Amino acid sequence: MGDSTKEKQLAAQEAVKLVEDGMTLGLGTGSTAYFAIEEIGQKVRNGFSLKAVPTSARTEEQARGLGIELVSIDDVDSIDLTIDGTDEFDDDLNLIKGGGGALLKEKMVARITDRQVIIADSTKHVERLGAFKIPVEVLPFTVNYVKSMIDESGGIGHIRMNGDDFYLTDEKNYIVDADYGLMEDPYEISDFLNDIEGVVCNGLFLDLAEIVIIGKDDSVVTYEREADDEEPDEEEGTEERLFA
Ligand code: 5RP
Repeated sequence: MGDSTKEKQLAAQEAVKLVEDGMTLGLGTGSTAYFAIEEIGQKVRNGFSLKAVPTSARTEEQARGLGIELVSIDDVDSIDLTIDGTDEFDDDLNLIKGGGGALLKEKMVARITDRQVIIADSTKHVERLGAFKIPVEVLPFTVNYVKSMIDESGGIGHIRMNGDDFYLTDEKNYIVDADYGLMEDPYEISDFLNDIEGVVCNGLFLDLAEIVIIGKDDSVVTYEREADDEEPDEEEGTEERLFA
């Protein structure tokens, strides 16, 4: 087993090589993203002009301290590149995220990002997602209801606590960590969770990561999503709308 701190650092350094002058970046949350943000701060000190959308209060504080120009998520239409961590990833580059409680902004940022790069130590690579419980962010007054819906569906809902208090997200919501064991079909579980009234966001990040970079011992391994050539090309000047 490698040194996980070193592996995180190596993955972060490799990912930051993808940062180009003038980009708008998404900044992830967690101990691995931390190293990437430090490296990005170094790029700014070296003269890069960058804007960045932070995914949590912690990340915002770190980035501000490094002199990185920050923009709010609702003030950008798109993000060129996001570097974020993960709690698990599989061979399809699907993820479980939200161990650090920042899943809502992390998912929104991922949705509007052109190139989502995930960094991790080698322990995060799994054959099947689900050993890590799926964080589910919920409106506070629905927490028992969401837990019971998860329990009735065949999972086990664990309400996340912080000592004797409910764990609070940056948005002042609660989290139920859902244990479905190793999942055969994470898409089905994600749809089920999203349909429960009170659920704000779930930690299954499906079809969002383009690249996963891990540190493995003293080197890095990069996994890239295979090009999806089934998507029809959009004609210039047309926009696909759901209800038109
Ligand atoms: C925070 C996250 C983190 O990216 C995830 O928990 C991984 O954290 P770390 O890099 O500390 O292992 O999703 O909400």
